[in-house]
Amino acid sequence: MVDLLLGLQWGDEGKGKIVDVLTKNYDIIARFQGGPNAGHTLIFDGNKHVLHTIPSGIFHKDTVNVVGNGVVIDPVIFKKELDNLSTYNINFKTNLLISRKAHVILPTHRLLDAASETAKGKAKIGSTLKGIGPTYMDKTGRNGFRIGDFELKDWKKRYNALTQKHLKMLSHYEVKMEFNLEELEVDFFKGVERLKELTFIDSEEYLNQAMKNGKSILAEGAQGSLLDVDFGTYPFVTSSTTTAAGACTGLGIAPNKIGKVVGIFKAYVTRVGSGPFPTELFDVDGETMARVGHEFGATTGRPRRCGWLDLVALKYTVEINGVTELSMMKGDVLSGFDTLKIATTYNYQGEKISHFPYNIEPENVSVNYETVKGWQADVTGARSIDDIPQNLKDYVKIIENFVGVPVKIISVGPDRKQTVFV
Ligand code: GDP
Ligand code: IMO
Ligand code: MG
Repeated sequence: MVDLLLGLQWGDEGKGKIVDVLTKNYDIIARFQGGPNAGHTLIFDGNKHVLHTIPSGIFHKDTVNVVGNGVVIDPVIFKKELDNLSTYNINFKTNLLISRKAHVILPTHRLLDAASETAKGKAKIGSTLKGIGPTYMDKTGRNGFRIGDFELKDWKKRYNALTQKHLKMLSHYEVKMEFNLEELEVDFFKGVERLKELTFIDSEEYLNQAMKNGKSILAEGAQGSLLDVDFGTYPFVTSSTTTAAGACTGLGIAPNKIGKVVGIFKAYVTRVGSGPFPTELFDVDGETMARVGHEFGATTGRPRRCGWLDLVALKYTVEINGVTELSMMKGDVLSGFDTLKIATTYNYQGEKISHFPYNIEPENVSVNYETVKGWQADVTGARSIDDIPQNLKDYVKIIENFVGVPVKIISVGPDRKQTVFV
């Protein structure tokens, strides 16, 4: 069976931490979509690591980590990630397997991402500028360059043809980008050489065989459901399927092989980049969340926008993913608030609604809140449910009752150890 772990908000829910915590229960951890737009933070033994493409099971020596076909890989960033792990004595040849069908982010994909964002001006997506959109466009447009292509004798010819095409596309933008492609290519080709030292596999075959042999797999999502290309706040989304269905297409796993679906959310909400955010705060409460929660992007360093927990949105993402259990993150960040607000319905075009509608732009949506009591105690030292204050337990109960799924983990700090199993 394959269990899934997915972000239910706009990303950065704490997926890296929880995958790392759960890895001991699995033989294989597999990423199925996204790419270096992701930044998954793991903290243990006083060290902090941010992974972008490499699955979060990499620190466990008996775990195989698979980068699935649905992922897009930038060799430059991948090499940096490997270099950052060089002191850990990890056997990458055996513990990190890459799908031949994963698509490659070329230097010109990054340039196209930047050109597109510049051309959009105020309407920009606020992308991470990692080339994600253009690479997935080439994939679905049937022009993409795949990892398996590196095994072909004439791969440089293919690389050059696609790069030339991108250069033509870049020349159509009004604002001309300044770049030195040769310089970018030096790093790219170094990255490719490093990548070629790793093991490329037909990952769908590998994973299905593993399941037949009784191995357990955890699929690690990137981004969050509200950034899903279909179900997110389009067009302010990423370019992949971040919801449960993405694990099927991104790994070659059939729907009837999916077991648990662990949905992960913050006790409040954050968003980085542009796009609507109904419960966003512009006051001291939002500032407190950002300060106490250190809300800065793990990939771009940009400040994250903060707001109250939105149960309308959470119920929606629980539903479209078939979430079977929840992990609530950053409970510790809300310690000290006298009261907390929780969004329970929206006013949408003059009507009170409880579902997540087509358009959540501020001109269409305002929010109705329930106010609940906060908790004052510092919970960062909590290790069992008995250490959790009653008002925090009540907060969790409200969420469980609203979305109809149990919370199995309450996270009370960034460290591996700061995890309470309910
Ligand atoms: P991911 O992209 O979902 O893996 O999440 P990120 O790593 O981008 O962002 C989550 C941030 O919150 C990281 O800095 C984590 O170290 C931190 N974090 C995770 N869980 C907790 C928690 O329970 N409490 C606090 N205070 N920080 C947490
Ligand atoms: P993890 O896996 C938070 C956001 C960007 C932007 C939009 C599109 O760490 O949770 P893209 O570069 O994908 O074209 O950007 O999506 N975004 C994320 N926000 N966490 C992420 O990943 C994100 N990956 C992309 O900020 O708004
Ligand atoms: Mg992140």
